[in-house]
Amino acid sequence: MKSMKILGIETSCDETAASVIENGRTILSNVIASQAEMHAKYGGIVPEVASRQHMVTIIPVLQQSLEEAGMLARDLDGVAVTYGPGLAGSLLIGVNAAKGLALADELPFIGLNHLEGHIYASWLEELDPEGRPGFPLMCLIASGGHTDLILMKGHGRFKLVGRTRDDAAGEAFDKAARVLGLGFPGGPEIQRVSSESRGVEPRFTRPRIKDSLDFSFSGLKSAVMRRAEERGIYPPQAGDSEPDPAKVADIAKAFQEAIVDSMVQHTTQAAKDHNVRGVLLGGGVAANTLLREEMKSRSPVEVIVPRPGLCTDNGAMIGAAAYFHMRQGKSYQWDMDVVPNLRLG
Ligand code: KG4
Ligand code: ZN
Repeated sequence: MKSMKILGIETSCDETAASVIENGRTILSNVIASQAEMHAKYGGIVPEVASRQHMVTIIPVLQQSLEEAGMLARDLDGVAVTYGPGLAGSLLIGVNAAKGLALADELPFIGLNHLEGHIYASWLEELDPEGRPGFPLMCLIASGGHTDLILMKGHGRFKLVGRTRDDAAGEAFDKAARVLGLGFPGGPEIQRVSSESRGVEPRFTRPRIKDSLDFSFSGLKSAVMRRAEERGIYPPQAGDSEPDPAKVADIAKAFQEAIVDSMVQHTTQAAKDHNVRGVLLGGGVAANTLLREEMKSRSPVEVIVPRPGLCTDNGAMIGAAAYFHMRQGKSYQWDMDVVPNLRLG
Protein backbone atom coordinates (compact mmCIF):
# COMPACT_ATOMS: atom_id res chain seq x y z
CA MET A 1 0.00 0.00 0.00
CA LYS A 2 1.27 3.49 -0.88
CA SER A 3 2.22 5.48 2.20
CA MET A 4 0.11 8.52 3.00
CA LYS A 5 1.87 11.74 4.04
CA ILE A 6 -0.27 14.49 5.55
CA LEU A 7 0.74 17.98 6.64
CA GLY A 8 -1.00 18.86 9.93
CA ILE A 9 -1.37 22.55 10.82
CA GLU A 10 -2.41 23.89 14.24
CA THR A 11 -2.97 27.56 15.14
CA SER A 12 -6.01 27.45 17.45
CA CYS A 13 -4.35 29.06 20.46
CA ASP A 14 -0.81 30.34 21.04
CA GLU A 15 1.29 27.76 19.20
CA THR A 16 2.01 28.00 15.47
CA ALA A 17 2.66 24.37 14.58
CA ALA A 18 3.06 22.20 11.49
CA SER A 19 4.09 18.59 11.09
CA VAL A 20 4.32 15.94 8.37
CA ILE A 21 2.89 12.58 9.47
CA GLU A 22 3.15 9.33 7.55
CA ASN A 23 0.26 6.86 7.81
CA GLY A 24 -1.18 8.55 10.91
CA ARG A 25 1.75 7.40 13.01
CA THR A 26 5.29 8.27 11.94
CA ILE A 27 6.50 11.81 12.67
CA LEU A 28 8.60 13.03 9.73
CA SER A 29 8.78 16.56 11.13
CA ASN A 30 7.20 18.44 14.05
CA VAL A 31 7.78 22.20 14.22
CA ILE A 32 6.26 24.27 17.05
CA ALA A 33 6.72 28.03 17.44
CA SER A 34 5.42 28.93 20.89
CA GLN A 35 4.22 32.43 21.76
CA ALA A 36 4.17 31.67 25.51
CA GLU A 37 6.87 34.23 26.27
CA MET A 38 4.98 37.02 24.49
CA HIS A 39 1.80 36.31 26.48
CA ALA A 40 3.64 35.74 29.77
CA LYS A 41 3.97 39.47 30.41
CA TYR A 42 0.16 39.81 30.31
CA GLY A 43 -0.34 36.70 32.50
CA GLY A 44 -2.54 35.05 29.85
CA ILE A 45 -3.24 34.82 26.14
CA VAL A 46 -4.14 38.07 24.37
CA PRO A 47 -6.16 37.03 21.28
CA GLU A 48 -5.07 39.85 18.98
CA VAL A 49 -1.40 39.38 19.85
CA ALA A 50 -1.84 35.65 19.15
CA SER A 51 -3.39 36.01 15.69
CA ARG A 52 -0.89 38.60 14.55
CA GLN A 53 2.01 36.45 15.71
CA HIS A 54 0.57 33.43 13.84
CA MET A 55 0.55 35.61 10.74
CA VAL A 56 4.26 36.34 11.16
CA THR A 57 5.36 32.75 11.87
CA ILE A 58 3.02 30.57 9.78
CA ILE A 59 5.00 30.54 6.52
CA PRO A 60 8.43 29.90 8.13
CA VAL A 61 6.87 27.11 10.25
CA LEU A 62 5.29 25.49 7.17
CA GLN A 63 8.54 25.78 5.21
CA GLN A 64 10.57 24.29 8.04
CA SER A 65 8.20 21.36 8.53
CA LEU A 66 8.41 20.42 4.83
CA GLU A 67 12.16 20.92 4.81
CA GLU A 68 12.71 18.70 7.88
CA ALA A 69 10.51 16.01 6.31
CA GLY A 70 12.67 16.32 3.17
CA MET A 71 9.77 16.97 0.81
CA LEU A 72 7.95 19.52 -1.30
CA ALA A 73 4.30 20.46 -0.81
CA ARG A 74 3.33 18.77 -4.07
CA ASP A 75 4.53 15.40 -2.70
CA LEU A 76 1.97 15.52 0.13
CA ASP A 77 -1.22 13.44 0.04
CA GLY A 78 -3.26 15.99 1.99
CA VAL A 79 -3.27 19.17 4.06
CA ALA A 80 -5.10 19.12 7.41
CA VAL A 81 -5.81 22.02 9.74
CA THR A 82 -7.62 22.74 13.01
CA TYR A 83 -10.82 24.74 12.27
CA GLY A 84 -12.13 24.79 15.88
CA PRO A 85 -12.52 25.07 18.78
CA GLY A 86 -10.18 27.96 19.55
CA LEU A 87 -9.64 31.67 19.06
CA ALA A 88 -11.31 32.83 15.83
CA GLY A 89 -8.50 35.12 14.71
CA SER A 90 -5.89 32.44 15.38
CA LEU A 91 -7.81 29.65 13.64
CA LEU A 92 -8.27 31.85 10.55
CA ILE A 93 -4.53 32.10 9.96
CA GLY A 94 -4.02 28.33 9.91
CA VAL A 95 -7.14 27.59 7.87
CA ASN A 96 -6.29 30.17 5.23
CA ALA A 97 -2.70 28.98 4.95
CA ALA A 98 -3.91 25.38 4.60
CA LYS A 99 -6.44 26.29 1.93
CA GLY A 100 -3.84 28.21 -0.06
CA LEU A 101 -1.33 25.37 0.14
CA ALA A 102 -3.88 22.72 -0.80
CA LEU A 103 -5.27 24.79 -3.65
CA ALA A 104 -1.84 25.52 -5.14
CA ASP A 105 -0.96 21.83 -5.40
CA GLU A 106 -4.49 20.44 -5.84
CA LEU A 107 -4.27 18.45 -2.61
CA PRO A 108 -7.15 17.13 -0.49
CA PHE A 109 -8.02 19.63 2.24
CA ILE A 110 -9.17 18.37 5.65
CA GLY A 111 -10.62 20.38 8.57
CA LEU A 112 -10.03 18.90 12.01
CA ASN A 113 -11.54 19.31 15.48
CA HIS A 114 -8.73 20.32 17.89
CA LEU A 115 -10.04 17.96 20.60
CA GLU A 116 -10.01 15.05 18.17
CA GLY A 117 -6.41 15.99 17.48
CA HIS A 118 -5.56 15.72 21.19
CA ILE A 119 -7.14 12.24 21.21
CA TYR A 120 -5.20 11.09 18.14
CA ALA A 121 -1.89 12.23 19.65
CA SER A 122 -1.97 8.79 21.30
CA TRP A 123 -1.87 7.05 17.92
CA LEU A 124 1.41 8.71 17.06
CA GLU A 125 3.67 6.65 19.27
CA GLU A 126 1.51 4.79 21.77
CA LEU A 127 -1.16 2.91 19.82
CA ASP A 128 -1.38 0.81 16.66
CA PRO A 129 -4.28 1.76 14.40
CA GLU A 130 -6.11 -1.51 15.18
CA GLY A 131 -4.15 -2.81 18.17
CA ARG A 132 -4.54 -2.94 21.96
CA PRO A 133 -6.43 -2.12 24.05
CA GLY A 134 -9.26 -1.72 21.50
CA PHE A 135 -12.51 0.24 21.80
CA PRO A 136 -14.37 1.63 23.64
CA LEU A 137 -11.98 4.10 25.26
CA MET A 138 -12.69 6.78 27.87
CA CYS A 139 -10.79 9.95 26.89
CA LEU A 140 -10.01 12.77 29.31
CA ILE A 141 -9.05 15.84 27.29
CA ALA A 142 -7.82 18.53 29.68
CA SER A 143 -6.39 21.74 28.25
CA GLY A 144 -6.50 25.49 28.71
CA GLY A 145 -9.99 25.69 27.20
CA HIS A 146 -11.54 22.25 27.85
CA THR A 147 -11.99 19.49 30.35
CA ASP A 148 -14.06 16.86 28.61
CA LEU A 149 -14.74 13.18 29.19
CA ILE A 150 -15.34 11.68 25.76
CA LEU A 151 -16.41 8.10 25.12
CA MET A 152 -14.70 6.89 21.93
CA LYS A 153 -16.53 3.92 20.46
CA GLY A 154 -14.38 3.62 17.34
CA HIS A 155 -12.41 5.79 14.93
CA GLY A 156 -14.38 9.01 14.46
CA ARG A 157 -17.17 7.90 16.88
CA PHE A 158 -17.31 10.18 19.92
CA LYS A 159 -19.82 10.88 22.68
CA LEU A 160 -19.39 13.60 25.31
CA VAL A 161 -20.20 12.11 28.76
CA GLY A 162 -18.76 14.78 31.09
CA ARG A 163 -17.40 18.30 30.91
CA THR A 164 -16.46 21.20 33.12
CA ARG A 165 -19.33 23.40 34.28
CA ASP A 166 -17.03 26.41 34.73
CA ASP A 167 -13.24 26.71 34.36
CA ALA A 168 -11.13 24.26 32.35
CA ALA A 169 -8.43 22.39 34.28
CA GLY A 170 -5.60 24.21 32.48
CA GLU A 171 -7.31 27.52 33.16
CA ALA A 172 -7.51 26.62 36.86
CA PHE A 173 -3.77 25.80 36.87
CA ASP A 174 -3.05 29.12 35.14
CA LYS A 175 -5.25 31.14 37.54
CA ALA A 176 -3.88 29.43 40.66
CA ALA A 177 -0.35 30.14 39.41
CA ARG A 178 -1.18 33.81 38.92
CA VAL A 179 -2.54 34.09 42.50
CA LEU A 180 0.67 32.48 43.76
CA GLY A 181 2.84 34.90 41.81
CA LEU A 182 4.13 32.19 39.45
CA GLY A 183 4.67 32.51 35.68
CA PHE A 184 2.53 31.66 32.65
CA PRO A 185 1.59 29.01 31.57
CA GLY A 186 0.78 28.03 35.12
CA GLY A 187 0.63 24.22 34.83
CA PRO A 188 4.36 23.58 34.45
CA GLU A 189 5.10 26.23 37.14
CA ILE A 190 2.72 24.66 39.70
CA GLN A 191 4.26 21.26 38.96
CA ARG A 192 7.80 22.61 39.35
CA VAL A 193 7.30 24.37 42.70
CA SER A 194 5.12 21.55 44.12
CA SER A 195 8.14 19.27 44.11
CA GLU A 196 9.78 21.59 46.66
CA SER A 197 6.81 21.61 49.05
CA ARG A 198 7.10 20.53 52.68
CA GLY A 199 3.56 19.12 52.41
CA VAL A 200 2.23 21.07 55.38
CA GLU A 201 -0.89 22.70 53.85
CA PRO A 202 -4.25 21.16 54.80
CA ARG A 203 -5.98 19.48 51.85
CA PHE A 204 -8.48 21.39 49.73
CA THR A 205 -12.05 20.08 49.57
CA ARG A 206 -12.58 18.08 46.36
CA PRO A 207 -15.25 19.56 44.11
CA ARG A 208 -18.23 17.21 43.53
CA ILE A 209 -21.36 17.55 41.44
CA LYS A 210 -24.00 15.06 42.61
CA ASP A 211 -24.95 12.28 40.17
CA SER A 212 -22.81 13.67 37.38
CA LEU A 213 -19.45 13.08 35.76
CA ASP A 214 -19.14 16.84 35.16
CA PHE A 215 -16.25 18.80 36.66
CA SER A 216 -16.21 22.12 38.49
CA PHE A 217 -12.96 23.91 39.26
CA SER A 218 -13.96 27.48 40.05
CA GLY A 219 -14.58 26.71 43.76
CA LEU A 220 -11.08 25.27 44.03
CA LYS A 221 -9.67 28.39 42.41
CA SER A 222 -11.44 30.59 44.99
CA ALA A 223 -10.22 28.34 47.80
CA VAL A 224 -6.62 28.80 46.61
CA MET A 225 -7.15 32.56 46.61
CA ARG A 226 -8.54 32.52 50.18
CA ARG A 227 -5.67 30.32 51.38
CA ALA A 228 -3.12 32.61 49.70
CA GLU A 229 -4.73 35.60 51.45
CA GLU A 230 -4.53 33.82 54.82
CA ARG A 231 -0.83 33.12 54.26
CA GLY A 232 -0.11 36.74 53.23
CA ILE A 233 0.81 35.81 49.64
CA TYR A 234 -2.15 37.45 47.91
CA PRO A 235 -2.81 40.19 46.91
CA PRO A 236 0.83 40.98 46.02
CA GLN A 237 2.54 43.40 48.41
CA ALA A 238 3.67 46.81 47.22
CA GLY A 239 7.36 47.07 46.35
CA ASP A 240 9.65 44.32 45.22
CA SER A 241 9.10 41.81 48.02
CA GLU A 242 8.59 38.30 46.60
CA PRO A 243 6.11 35.93 48.31
CA ASP A 244 7.70 33.31 50.56
CA PRO A 245 8.65 30.46 48.14
CA ALA A 246 8.04 27.76 50.77
CA LYS A 247 4.46 28.93 51.39
CA VAL A 248 3.84 29.20 47.64
CA ALA A 249 5.14 25.66 47.09
CA ASP A 250 2.93 24.25 49.87
CA ILE A 251 -0.28 25.79 48.48
CA ALA A 252 0.67 24.80 44.91
CA LYS A 253 1.13 21.17 45.98
CA ALA A 254 -2.19 21.03 47.83
CA PHE A 255 -3.92 22.58 44.80
CA GLN A 256 -2.27 20.16 42.35
CA GLU A 257 -3.29 17.19 44.50
CA ALA A 258 -6.91 18.35 44.67
CA ILE A 259 -7.34 19.03 40.95
CA VAL A 260 -5.57 15.81 39.95
CA ASP A 261 -7.65 13.81 42.43
CA SER A 262 -10.84 15.27 40.97
CA MET A 263 -9.83 14.40 37.39
CA VAL A 264 -8.73 10.86 38.31
CA GLN A 265 -11.86 10.24 40.37
CA HIS A 266 -14.24 11.29 37.56
CA THR A 267 -12.31 9.52 34.82
CA THR A 268 -12.06 6.19 36.63
CA GLN A 269 -15.78 6.42 37.50
CA ALA A 270 -16.61 7.11 33.83
CA ALA A 271 -14.39 4.19 32.77
CA LYS A 272 -16.34 1.86 35.10
CA ASP A 273 -19.77 3.24 34.14
CA HIS A 274 -19.09 2.72 30.44
CA ASN A 275 -17.18 -0.51 30.75
CA VAL A 276 -14.29 0.66 28.58
CA ARG A 277 -11.11 -1.21 27.65
CA GLY A 278 -8.76 1.72 28.18
CA VAL A 279 -8.41 5.28 29.46
CA LEU A 280 -6.78 7.81 27.14
CA LEU A 281 -5.38 11.17 28.25
CA GLY A 282 -4.68 14.21 26.10
CA GLY A 283 -4.38 17.99 26.13
CA GLY A 284 -1.77 20.19 27.81
CA VAL A 285 -2.77 19.19 31.37
CA ALA A 286 -2.04 15.53 30.52
CA ALA A 287 1.63 16.56 30.53
CA ASN A 288 1.30 16.78 34.32
CA THR A 289 3.42 14.11 36.03
CA LEU A 290 1.17 13.64 39.06
CA LEU A 291 -1.93 13.23 36.83
CA ARG A 292 -0.15 10.64 34.68
CA GLU A 293 1.09 8.67 37.69
CA GLU A 294 -2.17 8.81 39.69
CA MET A 295 -4.28 7.83 36.68
CA LYS A 296 -2.01 4.86 35.99
CA SER A 297 -2.11 3.64 39.57
CA ARG A 298 -5.88 4.10 40.11
CA SER A 299 -7.42 3.22 36.72
CA PRO A 300 -9.13 -0.19 36.46
CA VAL A 301 -7.98 -0.45 32.82
CA GLU A 302 -4.86 0.36 30.77
CA VAL A 303 -3.96 4.09 30.60
CA ILE A 304 -2.67 5.51 27.33
CA VAL A 305 -0.99 8.90 27.36
CA PRO A 306 1.31 10.57 24.83
CA ARG A 307 4.72 11.82 25.91
CA PRO A 308 4.42 15.34 27.42
CA GLY A 309 5.63 17.09 24.24
CA LEU A 310 2.72 15.58 22.30
CA CYS A 311 0.12 16.46 25.00
CA THR A 312 0.47 20.22 24.49
CA ASP A 313 -0.63 21.74 21.16
CA ASN A 314 1.19 20.49 18.07
CA GLY A 315 0.60 19.82 14.37
CA ALA A 316 1.49 16.12 14.59
CA MET A 317 -1.78 15.24 16.33
CA ILE A 318 -3.70 16.98 13.53
CA GLY A 319 -1.81 15.02 10.87
CA ALA A 320 -2.51 11.80 12.78
CA ALA A 321 -6.26 12.46 13.14
CA ALA A 322 -6.52 13.49 9.48
CA TYR A 323 -5.17 10.10 8.35
CA PHE A 324 -8.19 8.37 9.89
CA HIS A 325 -10.53 10.85 8.16
CA MET A 326 -8.84 10.30 4.80
CA ARG A 327 -9.02 6.53 5.24
CA GLN A 328 -12.78 6.93 5.50
CA GLY A 329 -12.80 9.05 2.33
CA LYS A 330 -14.10 12.20 4.00
CA SER A 331 -13.69 15.43 2.03
CA TYR A 332 -14.19 19.05 3.02
CA GLN A 333 -15.35 22.12 1.17
CA TRP A 334 -13.32 25.12 0.13
CA ASP A 335 -15.87 27.42 1.80
CA MET A 336 -15.23 25.83 5.21
CA ASP A 337 -15.28 28.47 7.98
CA VAL A 338 -13.62 28.41 11.40
CA VAL A 339 -15.90 27.33 14.30
CA PRO A 340 -14.55 28.82 17.57
CA ASN A 341 -17.00 26.84 19.76
CA LEU A 342 -16.88 23.55 17.84
CA ARG A 343 -17.90 20.52 19.97
CA LEU A 344 -16.88 16.89 19.76
CA GLY A 345 -19.58 14.26 20.31
O1 KG4 B 1 -3.61 21.73 25.01
P1 KG4 B 1 -2.88 22.97 25.35
O2 KG4 B 1 -1.42 23.07 24.95
O3 KG4 B 1 -3.60 24.23 24.70
C1 KG4 B 1 -5.00 24.34 24.68
O4 KG4 B 1 -5.62 23.70 23.79
O5 KG4 B 1 -5.50 25.01 25.60
O6 KG4 B 1 -3.04 23.20 26.92
C2 KG4 B 1 -2.49 24.30 27.57
C3 KG4 B 1 -2.77 24.19 29.06
C4 KG4 B 1 -2.33 25.41 29.87
O7 KG4 B 1 -3.41 25.82 30.69
C5 KG4 B 1 -1.16 24.88 30.71
O8 KG4 B 1 -1.03 25.52 31.98
C6 KG4 B 1 -1.51 23.42 30.85
O9 KG4 B 1 -2.06 23.06 29.61
N1 KG4 B 1 -0.33 22.60 31.13
C7 KG4 B 1 -0.15 21.90 32.29
C8 KG4 B 1 1.14 21.30 32.22
N2 KG4 B 1 1.69 21.64 31.01
C9 KG4 B 1 0.79 22.42 30.37
N3 KG4 B 1 -0.96 21.76 33.35
C10 KG4 B 1 -0.50 21.01 34.39
N4 KG4 B 1 0.72 20.43 34.41
C11 KG4 B 1 1.57 20.53 33.36
N5 KG4 B 1 2.77 19.96 33.39
ZN1 ZN C 1 -5.01 22.03 22.93
